[in-house]
Amino acid sequence: MSADRLRVLVLNGPNLNLLGAREPAVYGRTTLAEIERALAAHADALGLDVECHQSNHEGALLDLLHGAMGRCAGVVFNPGAYTHTSIALRDAVAGIALPVVEVHLSNTEAREDFRKVSHVGAVCLGRIMGFGPQGYLLALDALRAHLAAR
Ligand code: DQA
Repeated sequence: MSADRLRVLVLNGPNLNLLGAREPAVYGRTTLAEIERALAAHADALGLDVECHQSNHEGALLDLLHGAMGRCAGVVFNPGAYTHTSIALRDAVAGIALPVVEVHLSNTEAREDFRKVSHVGAVCLGRIMGFGPQGYLLALDALRAHLAAR
């Protein structure tokens, strides 16, 4: 961590703590800890600091998003199933006025119809899906480019 580096919040929602063991045919074998380690190394190479959190609770995710205001320059967010259900998380993303990149390991557009709806996506800077763990690193690249262009 460095005082002059921009900080990015990496937030993972429900069931993503089970990565590695959960439905490996859909989500692969990489654990969340491995993804977070890769993100920390990638952020370092980009000159960013990352702060990683996961919660299975909608209210906790809301609090973490609110807590990013004034401290973080942007957010990489995989809301898990809350993507498809949560107006509260959509409103939080809109309310914090930070660039947020939505990430999904799987291509939600190619799955069940209920996964094709993203309440959060409409208020995000952009969405990256279907690239597995690599998607988180791509999101960081996108956020870095966005922040540099401001
Ligand atoms: C997910 C996709 C969601 O539909 C699902 O509920 C998840 C994981 C993904 O990363 O592919 O929990 O967000």
